[in-house]
Amino acid sequence: MRRVAVTGGAGYIGSHMCKQLADHGHDVIVIDDLSSGHREAVRWGRLVQCSLLDAPALSLALRDARCDAVIHFAGAIAVGESVDDPLRHYAINVGGSLNLLRAMRDADVRRIVFSSSAAIFGEPRQAFIDEAHPIDPISPYGRSKAMVERMLQDAASAYGIGAVALRYFNAAGAEPSATIGESHEPETHLIPRLLRAARDGLQVEIYGDDHPTPDGTCIRDYVHVDDLCSAHLAALDHLDARAGFHAFNLGNGNGCSVREVIAAVRAVTGRAVDVRVAGRRAGDPARLVACTDRVRAGLGWKPATPALEAIVESAWRWHRAPAY
Ligand SMILES: NC(=O)c1ccc[n+]([C@@H]2O[C@H](COP(=O)([O-])OP(=O)(O)OC[C@H]3O[C@@H](n4cnc5c(N)ncnc54)[C@H](O)[C@@H]3O)[C@@H](O)[C@H]2O)c1
Repeated sequence: MRRVAVTGGAGYIGSHMCKQLADHGHDVIVIDDLSSGHREAVRWGRLVQCSLLDAPALSLALRDARCDAVIHFAGAIAVGESVDDPLRHYAINVGGSLNLLRAMRDADVRRIVFSSSAAIFGEPRQAFIDEAHPIDPISPYGRSKAMVERMLQDAASAYGIGAVALRYFNAAGAEPSATIGESHEPETHLIPRLLRAARDGLQVEIYGDDHPTPDGTCIRDYVHVDDLCSAHLAALDHLDARAGFHAFNLGNGNGCSVREVIAAVRAVTGRAVDVRVAGRRAGDPARLVACTDRVRAGLGWKPATPALEAIVESAWRWHRAPAY
């Protein structure tokens, strides 16, 4: 059994992680300031309401937690907002992670799994993005994630901390009982926006149908949130046997276009979605799909729910009547 502190455990992915940790018999402590998370989502483990920006409180929380690992989800997540207010993003994502690493060093917590992002790669130079792809982010959000990866590398070699960075592509879906799910405000992710629109009869804008892809819409790699979380459990096992810094790209390895997602939403909900095609967004790559060879071989991971319709179906169970 492990004792794991989950920063951002009141958020979308973090709350799914807490459930999975508890389901596997581990003890959970959630560290979250509830700035965008939900108290109702903290159902597995104790909540310590604390900001990563409050270094003394964070140190105390980690010392009290007596945990053997940290899974670090907390952060600011909206790419567009990071362009408008980069210093806020750097403060939370970089400054917050710095405080967390210091608190870990002081409390002698030696393992961390970090939520990184495909945004560290910037404009893709290959069809399937592997770990050798240049790190060249084009948004402050992506740069903040790349900076934290560098901090983790340095902390790993200086203090003997074992660190895994998982570069997520697009998280989607909800756990089977749909008692927790994705609830961001504002919501910028495609699947929840389409499902809310299907539920409430609203219109959704999509960004461009003239991209260099077969149907002209952007292609993304959607990975079920429970599959994403199972990779974190595998990452903790990975760190049992080794120190150092390790990075894995984490996606399904399949690309789905915006039009394909719209079709899946229609098929699952039985409702037509009113879609308006707006212009392309600056810095929106036409295609972002993971090469999953390393995560499969290195962590022994594979997705249990790779099919887009099954992912959308699980998300719809949540979105038709969300609890928060
Ligand atoms: N959702 C995706 O598709 C996706 C893709 C790539 C990377 N990520 C990364 O995964 C992580 C989790 O994403 P999510 O979608 O669950 O986000 P979320 O917004 O649902 O959860 C983030 C949580 O962090 C908490 N938080 C924010 N600032 C904090 C602070 N200063 N101190 C303490 N807690 C704080 C929030 O209250 C919230 O509960 C983020 O780091 C995000 O960048 C997500």
